[in-house]
Amino acid sequence: MLRTLLFLSLTAIASAAEISFSRQIAPILIDQCVECHRSGKAKGSYRLDTIELMFKAGDSETAPLVAGKPDASELYRLIATHEGDDRMPKKADALPEKDMQLIREWIADGAKLDVADKKAALRAIVSEQEKARAPEKYPRPLPVTALALNPAGSTLACSGYFETTLWETSTGKLQARIDGMPERILALAWVTENQLAVAGGVPGRSGEVWWVNPLQPKERRRLVSARDCVLAMVASPDGKLLACGGADNQVRCFELPSGKLKWQIEPHADWIMGMAFSPDSQHIATASRDRTAKRIDAAKGEIEATFTGHDCTVLSVASTPDSKETLSGDVEGNIRRWDRNGDATKDGSLRPGGRTEMLALSFLDAGTPMAAMGSGAVVSMDAKARKTKDKITRYDDRVNVLLLQRIDNTARIITGCHDGRVRINELGKAEPVLQFVASPGW
Ligand code: HEC
Repeated sequence: MLRTLLFLSLTAIASAAEISFSRQIAPILIDQCVECHRSGKAKGSYRLDTIELMFKAGDSETAPLVAGKPDASELYRLIATHEGDDRMPKKADALPEKDMQLIREWIADGAKLDVADKKAALRAIVSEQEKARAPEKYPRPLPVTALALNPAGSTLACSGYFETTLWETSTGKLQARIDGMPERILALAWVTENQLAVAGGVPGRSGEVWWVNPLQPKERRRLVSARDCVLAMVASPDGKLLACGGADNQVRCFELPSGKLKWQIEPHADWIMGMAFSPDSQHIATASRDRTAKRIDAAKGEIEATFTGHDCTVLSVASTPDSKETLSGDVEGNIRRWDRNGDATKDGSLRPGGRTEMLALSFLDAGTPMAAMGSGAVVSMDAKARKTKDKITRYDDRVNVLLLQRIDNTARIITGCHDGRVRINELGKAEPVLQFVASPGW
C-alpha cells in the first residue's frame, strides 16, 4: 500500500516536472525568435513558426533539434554560444539563463511535443494555452470595447473577457455566452443571424478573428491568426466582404460566407485604429496611428486616396451616406471631411467637443454626423453649419462604441462605455430607454 502511494506520488512529481512545449518553450520562441524566422522572413532559410518547420535545418544544413542531444542541436548551440555574432536571438541580449536551461532540458528530455497537431503554428498553440476561461462572475464591470447588433435587431453581441456575451435588446437580459474567444475583443461584426465575426487578441502578442455561429457556438473557425492585435473590423453592408486591420499594420479582406482571403495589404506605416465600409460596399476607409486616413477599393485591395490633414493619431472613420466622402476623427478632437481624392472638402473641419478623442463616428442622416468621444459625450452635428446640433448624452466615462438602430421612424443610439455599461437612447429623450452592465454576474 505504502509502496503504491509512493510510486503514485513519484510519477506525479515526474510528470509535473516534465517540460511542456506548449506552455514553457513555445512562448519563448515566439517572443524571441519567430519575428526573424517565419513565413515571409526566414533568416538563414530557417523557420520557427510551425512545429514541423522548427525541426528542419536551414542554410547550415545542421539539424536544429536532435531529440535527447542538446549539444548536437544547432538551435541550442546558437542560443548558448559565446560568439556574439552567431548567437541567437541575433542583435539582441542572450536569452535569460533560466530560458536557456529550460530549452536545454526540453531537448535532453527528447524534445517532446504536448500538441496533437504536429503541423500547428506556434502562435496558435500558445494562444490556445493562454485561453483562460471567462470568469463565471465578473469582479468588476469590464469596459465595453465592441458591440454588434444581429440583423433582426433583437440581440446585441458584446465584448467580454475571453468571451462574447449576447444580450436581449428589449430587456437587457443575458441570452448566451460564447467562450473560447480572444482575451480582449475589440471588434464585432454580425453578418447574418448565424454568422458573427469576433476580433481582438492580446497587444504585442497575438491577433485573432473568429467566425462563429451564435446559434451553434461550437461551429466556429479562426479566420486570422496574426502576430499582433486586431483592432478594427467591418463587414460590408451587402454582407459579401469582411475586412480587418490592426497592430500589424495590415488590412485583410475575406469573401463571405466562405471566409476565403480575398486580398491582404499593408496600407499604413503604423497601427490601424478604425475602419468603415461605404454604404455601397465599394470602399473601405481606414484610420491609423501613422496620422493618415485612407480609402481603399474593396474589390481590388488598392489604395484610392490618402488623407494627410490630421497631425496626430486618427482613431475613427465613417463614410458619408452617398459613399462619396469620408469623415475621420483624431485623438485631439478634430473631425475632418475629405473627398475621394483625399482632399479636404470646403468647410471640412469640425471640432465638436474640444480636446478629446473622437472614438467613433457615424451618420444619423446625410447632413447629420455623430461622434462619440473620450470625454463621455455623444453629439450630433450640423455638417453645413459646422456646429454641434444636439448633445445626445453625456456619460462619465469614455464612449468606445456607437451603433445606430432604426426601428420604424425612430432612431436608437446604442453606446458601449468604458464604465462597462451599454445604453440605448432614443433621439430627443434625455434618459436612456434601457441601460445595463454587460458583465455577467456583476
Ligand atoms: C533579429 C533577427 C533574428 C532573431 C530575433 C533570431 N534569429 Fe536566428 N538567425 C538570424 C539570421 C540572420 C540567421 C542566419 C545566420 C546568421 O546570419 O548568423 C539565423 C540563423 C538561425 C539558425 C540557423 C539556421 C540554419 O540552419 O542555418 C537557427 C537554428 C536560429 N537562427 C535560431 C534562432 C532562435 C532559436 C532564435 C530565438 C532565440 C533566433 N534564431 C532569433 C536572425 C535572427
